[in-house]
Amino acid sequence: MYTVRKLTVRKSSNFSNLTFFTPTQMLMNKKFYVVLFLAVTVALSIAASAPPQGEPKRNLKVLPKNISHEDLDKVMHGFNDALGVKCNHCHSGGQVDGRFKMDFASDAKPEKEMARNMLKMTAKINKKFFHFKAGAADAVPPISCMTCHNGKVHPEGGKK
Ligand code: HEC
Ligand code: HEC
Repeated sequence: MYTVRKLTVRKSSNFSNLTFFTPTQMLMNKKFYVVLFLAVTVALSIAASAPPQGEPKRNLKVLPKNISHEDLDKVMHGFNDALGVKCNHCHSGGQVDGRFKMDFASDAKPEKEMARNMLKMTAKINKKFFHFKAGAADAVPPISCMTCHNGKVHPEGGKK
């Protein structure tokens, strides 16, 4: 099955990375912010309301439980682009009636939990250090997954 590295958020390197961001990098990533963060932040602002009846029961702990299929799809494809991975980097699957099927609700892969932590970290950096307000529809968050990952799983470039 999957060989999984030990996953830990190295606090010191995450935050010291911030000193390398330039306004140009931020602008280059602008398009990605719009895709990911309109979805995430707009959705987070309505996270408090209950999921509509008839929606599939989801295993969402960071994204809003009532996020639309469309927005969820945008966020997930944003992850793929930012990390340069496919869906199965974070999601697992298995045999169902003799055929392989993805199980997106499963938390079997530690990468998924890491991504949850990263979502929370990114939102916190934007809020606390850039005073980003998530509510406004045209607001572009200063940092996103792409800011650090830039198409790679390991931002520092040391590991493959
Ligand atoms: C970097 C890791 C990562 C990648 C890559 C990723 N996902 Fe996810 N996905 C997550 C996390 C984390 C959650 C749960 C979010 C939460 O708890 O709020 C999730 C949740 C989901 C869910 C909701 C499952 C449920 O509970 O019902 C679906 C569907 C999904 N992802 C589909 C995809 C698809 C399709 C792709 C590829 C286009 C993809 N994901 C790529 C991390 C990832
Ligand atoms: C402030 C910089 C920064 C931001 C922003 C950031 N990450 Fe990370 N991320 C890192 C660092 C550093 C690591 C550890 C890299 C390593 O293991 O070499 C990491 C690791 C990860 C891993 C585990 C890598 C593995 O081994 O599979 C996942 C998954 C991940 N990030 C997803 C995300 C997602 C999704 C976002 C956006 C919501 C995000 N990251 C935003 C810096 C960042």
